[in-house]
Amino acid sequence: MDKRIVISGGTGLIGKKIISRLKYKGYSVTILTRNKRPAEKIISQDIESVEWDYSKPTELLTEIISGCEAVINLAGASIAGRRWNHEYKKLIYDSRVLTTQKISEAISLCKEKPLSFVSASASGYYGFDGEEQLTEDSTAGSDFLAKVCKDWERAAYEAERSGVRTVTVRIAVVLDKNEGALKKLIAPFKFFLGGHLGSGKQWFPWIHADDLADLFLFSIENKNIRRALNGSAPEQIRNKEFCKILGKIIGRPSILPVPGFMLRLITGEFAKYLLKGRRLVPEKALNSGFIFKYDTCEKALKNILDK
Ligand SMILES: NC(=O)c1ccc[n+]([C@@H]2O[C@H](COP(=O)([O-])OP(=O)(O)OC[C@H]3O[C@@H](n4cnc5c(N)ncnc54)[C@H](OP(=O)(O)O)[C@@H]3O)[C@@H](O)[C@H]2O)c1
Repeated sequence: MDKRIVISGGTGLIGKKIISRLKYKGYSVTILTRNKRPAEKIISQDIESVEWDYSKPTELLTEIISGCEAVINLAGASIAGRRWNHEYKKLIYDSRVLTTQKISEAISLCKEKPLSFVSASASGYYGFDGEEQLTEDSTAGSDFLAKVCKDWERAAYEAERSGVRTVTVRIAVVLDKNEGALKKLIAPFKFFLGGHLGSGKQWFPWIHADDLADLFLFSIENKNIRRALNGSAPEQIRNKEFCKILGKIIGRPSILPVPGFMLRLITGEFAKYLLKGRRLVPEKALNSGFIFKYDTCEKALKNILDK
């Protein structure tokens, strides 16, 4: 077995972070991408890229995966990138569930199977809830994103049937300097228009991108981790408090809340995911000895924003 990791969606925010850590640790990496040309501009030249998506034959994927140490699965159409309509919701679902089904199938067909399969999932698994502390044992929600996450995870667990240790990381809002939610959250603050979303009372689960990348590597290397793993920081914070800290760090007040109707107008159905929160607890990571470098959002934001 070679020290090689195959990774789908490796050109995205989380994938790039994971790849740089894998390289540092001496792994070689093969990424699966829908489009080789742009991917080669995003990732460095010593990374092998192969054109593959769920419409392509499984046999091709089996050949690529065979003999590698682990598979990481991050592919999926952006959740917050566009206003949802029926077709886009189908794409959100298919790009995750069908991709994962195919990867699990390819893994099961490998003569030399990987040791582990680590697949993304999302904190949306739990639906939106009030005050309950959500550990990996909490029940799933019943809204659209919860269904996507449930089916996404179920598809990943198909790989377990062929004896491959499988982990699904229920990822919270990822904080990063260049991409993702933080950039969008900060923009209005720059014009003194920053504030919490809706009532601001909703819990706001988050994780620093570096900690999340480390958590993926931890999942590959730690044989005791299996099944669901909450990918959120240990600090539990409400949206209002998070925005207050953000405002303080960038030297702008957090005084102008974004009303719910405005969010609904701008983002459509996705607004309810911003207005209602989830109180995630990374119980399994903490019990397994994972150390979060950024355990409070103050530390995380100061690091990301160079303050
Ligand atoms: N970032 C977050 O805050 C967050 C929170 C919770 C869950 N997650 C989940 O974690 C995973 C990775 O997140 P990320 O932030 O790194 O995402 P990202 O930056 O949007 O990257 C995802 C990658 O998936 C591939 N992709 C895009 N559209 C696709 C489609 N229609 N079909 C198949 N593949 C497609 C793309 O790779 P190619 O162009 O190379 O094919 C893209 O680089 C996603 O599944 C996401 O839902 C992220």
